[in-house]
Amino acid sequence: MNMGRTGFIFDLDGVIVDTAKYHYLAWKKLADELGISFTEEDNENFKGVSRNRCLEILLEMGDLTVSQAQFSAWLAEKNEDYLAYIAGMDETEILPDVPRALEHLRGRNVPIALGSASKNAAPILEKVQLLPYFDTLVDGNSVTKAKPDPEVFLIAAEKLGVAPEDCVVFEDAVAGIEAANNAGMTSIGIGDADILDKADYNFKDFTEIDTEFLDDLLR
Ligand code: BG6
Ligand code: MG
Repeated sequence: MNMGRTGFIFDLDGVIVDTAKYHYLAWKKLADELGISFTEEDNENFKGVSRNRCLEILLEMGDLTVSQAQFSAWLAEKNEDYLAYIAGMDETEILPDVPRALEHLRGRNVPIALGSASKNAAPILEKVQLLPYFDTLVDGNSVTKAKPDPEVFLIAAEKLGVAPEDCVVFEDAVAGIEAANNAGMTSIGIGDADILDKADYNFKDFTEIDTEFLDDLLR
């Protein structure tokens, strides 16, 4: 373990790329089919939450109990719709100033990990050509416990060889900020500060994060 060295962990959806809107549209389509009302506000509870758990929540909202086969079919349908949305993704869908931050951190030679609940993380990073910035990817395929459990970030810290208390996490989800806090890491909320009020720091997006702030995190 490299004590004292700072590790950076980025969530994917809603932090690096604006895919939260595609997740919302895909869930909304399924919700409409099932006659369940689903708003953007409801979608906040889906951010950072595994695909499986999202469908459980949606069915709870509609008071529906279904067979395992039906559950799997709807899960697959949502993912197919989501994949259709992201099929044409390219670098233009990277959120503002994310490449600048990644480039700056790379220049400082700090280890960088992805910490995402998504099982689609690797192909998305590849499409937007940001894969080379990451030393390791920890995603929905490598965890058993979903955020707010700290597992995803603790695995990322271990893979980076950095102590959890020396890691910084960028997150747009309430569950993700809780996961980072539960891991004993520094949490940085990206988005609405009122929603992400448990974060150690809050920024609307990366345009508000200057290089001095990033460098201060290294000390
Ligand atoms: C998270 C998103 O990053 O990934 C959630 O914030 C999503 O909304 C979760 O449900 C799982 O993503 P996927 O791509 O595996 O369905
Ligand atoms: Mg997210």
